[in-house]
Amino acid sequence: MRTLTGITPSGTLHIGNYFGAMRPAIDAQKRGDCFYFIADYHSMTTVTDAAERRKNTMGIALDWLACGLDPKNSVFWRQSDVPEVCELMWMLGSLAPMGLMERAHSYKDKTAKGIEANFGLFAYPVLMAADILLYDVNRVPVGRDQKQHVEMTRDMAIKFNHTYGDTFVIPESEIRDEVAVIPGLDGQKMSKSYGNTIEIFGDEKALRKKIMGIVMDSRTPAEPKPDADKNLAVQLLKLFATPEVSADYENRLRVGGLGYGDLKKALFEHYWNHFTAARVRRAEFAANLDHVEVVLRDGAERARAVAEQVIGRARKASGLR
Ligand code: ADP
Ligand code: TRP
Repeated sequence: MRTLTGITPSGTLHIGNYFGAMRPAIDAQKRGDCFYFIADYHSMTTVTDAAERRKNTMGIALDWLACGLDPKNSVFWRQSDVPEVCELMWMLGSLAPMGLMERAHSYKDKTAKGIEANFGLFAYPVLMAADILLYDVNRVPVGRDQKQHVEMTRDMAIKFNHTYGDTFVIPESEIRDEVAVIPGLDGQKMSKSYGNTIEIFGDEKALRKKIMGIVMDSRTPAEPKPDADKNLAVQLLKLFATPEVSADYENRLRVGGLGYGDLKKALFEHYWNHFTAARVRRAEFAANLDHVEVVLRDGAERARAVAEQVIGRARKASGLR
């Protein structure tokens, strides 16, 4: 059973990404045969600055390694180090009906927002299909927004197999409904696009300020708060503290006597301590970027060993040399 997922290097990761995507992916390593890649080709539809792409790509690599991605266990690489994926994109794109492509919401949403679409954005689901089909993948864990792209991948694989004979493994998406949506600083879903994030890594002072700045109501500390379980700081504290500790804070808030300032201070401390070991590891990796580069290249070699076989099958089936 092979699992694959891609991470687009577009900015700084937050604790919503951590609990929603990274931690499940890191846990899945125990089950073995995981393929994780940094989707730097995908970033080209929106990022047009070379230095920024390099920086984002390395930043994401550091974040994942620091949080526990083990390159001995998983194959971890940079998408563009295996350029065969672009060849496969052409083969699949040549079988993708325009109607299917036009229904993709990644493209529809962007154009509806008035963002000028380029061909890359339109073709993005075909590149994503190539990402998946190139590695004989069974399972693709993604957020709900990506479900349609995995459906399109299945359509393209089935069509290719039907046209040229059995070539590709048909993948399935794994939508993580069990992962709660992590709320942001304003109580809405935490997302880069809403400016309400708590980053995994960053400057201590700035992050403390963000957390201490969470807006609460004007009830006095002494007042009992029967709705303590709905308090945003309590909800976030539950992610980081033991059940006993978070229940204790929730209870003190409910019966009265705990001030919001003290609650937010506790939240900051637990959040900050949660990532202490990861922060140390990240600094170590950051001081040794040559090593990170070696890790990614080694991953690319292992990914390529699979890719070459699959692209060989696809070439042969379709009558290319
Ligand atoms: P953003 O909304 O910040 O742009 P992405 O869409 O890049 O985040 O999400 C990357 C991954 O992180 C996805 O798998 C998504 O499901 C997960 N994720 C993002 N935000 C949250 C959140 N608030 N709660 C849980 N998971 C999240
Ligand atoms: N499109 C995905 C996202 O924006 C990233 C991605 C690219 C991906 N290729 C993939 C995810 C292949 C799973 C499989 O989050």
